[in-house]
Amino acid sequence: MTESDPTASGGGFARFGATASTTPEFRPRSAASVSRETTEDSFSGIRADASSPLANEMLTTERQLRELERAEFPRPPRTRVITVSNQKGGVGKTTTSVNVAAALAMKGAKVLVIDADPQGNASTALGVDHHSGTPSIYESLLEDVPLAHVAQQCPDIPSLWCVPATIDLAGADIELVSVVRREFRLADAVSSLLATPGADYDYIFIDCPPSLGLLTLNAMVVATEVLIPIQCEYYALEGLTQLIKTVEMVKKHLNPQINVSTIVLTMYDSRTNLAREVASEVRGHFPNETLEQTVPRSVRVSEAPSYGQTVMTHDAHSSGAVAYLAIAREIAVRGAVPDATGGRA
Ligand SMILES: Nc1ncnc2c1ncn2[C@@H]1O[C@H](COP(=O)(O)OP(=O)(O)O)[C@@H](O)[C@H]1O
Ligand SMILES: [Mg+2]
Repeated sequence: MTESDPTASGGGFARFGATASTTPEFRPRSAASVSRETTEDSFSGIRADASSPLANEMLTTERQLRELERAEFPRPPRTRVITVSNQKGGVGKTTTSVNVAAALAMKGAKVLVIDADPQGNASTALGVDHHSGTPSIYESLLEDVPLAHVAQQCPDIPSLWCVPATIDLAGADIELVSVVRREFRLADAVSSLLATPGADYDYIFIDCPPSLGLLTLNAMVVATEVLIPIQCEYYALEGLTQLIKTVEMVKKHLNPQINVSTIVLTMYDSRTNLAREVASEVRGHFPNETLEQTVPRSVRVSEAPSYGQTVMTHDAHSSGAVAYLAIAREIAVRGAVPDATGGRA
């Protein structure tokens, strides 16, 4: 299948008059399968072709990649701690955390991903050890082991680090209840980390579990920004009010610096009315926070973790990788100017 996964929208492909040349087996980079001629309107052997929406989509993706390859990714003046949160499961928190982190790291930033979900999906995608017993976020939160001792360097991207989560974290929400400064455990650990020589991270992303328990609360207490991924599906906005209220409560009582800075529309299929409607509703409510770039539904994105990879290293030319690179750039550019997002939480 191609990364644009035409089957995902349930037959939408046929509506675009797909021909044999646009079947899912069509791949842009096997130049032999398409014309080697290059014209003004072509890249890597892909040519604009009015009868082939898939080829045109690939051409647009390649063009965007070329632009992003030349673009500046300004580094922030100080560490940005971004909590990726949404209490709904399966909306793209982990996918967004690891891919934005990888994209920024590939563009020269030093980045740490803290996996705060007992499922350890971010650790899997970043290719770091996280079997039970591996020193992890659990030991930092509950046994005061410094984050610097549990962070692992990601195998594919040297400036990307990950604090893994193991299954031990599953009990942490309950175990934390009786601990001193239970809401501040992660904030204390991150402060100590940033005071350590060499821990000059540009970005720290925290991948939250799908709940608003103590792990998520710890992640919000340490963050200056909240990034909310919203899946462009029915029910997308349900629960959002509660999430925003939680951020406001944290801002009032625990962390005055926190703002919902960024909303990312994930699994966006432009061919469905529903996705367009959800996107326009989200933009209506959050005009400043919602990024222009959306993440398309993409098989390459969903298969990357099974290779212990982000899509950025798995297939840098795929539509999902290019989308996450564009998202990383929007985030980098917004962060270069204080309060450019007009955070409203
Ligand atoms: N853009 C995308 N295209 C296709 N599948 C995606 C995309 N984003 C996420 N997924 C898949 O959807 C599922 C849920 O995503 P995930 O990032 O794990 O969500 P969460 O962390 O919010 O639970 C995963 O199987 C993931 O691979
Ligand atoms: Mg997750």
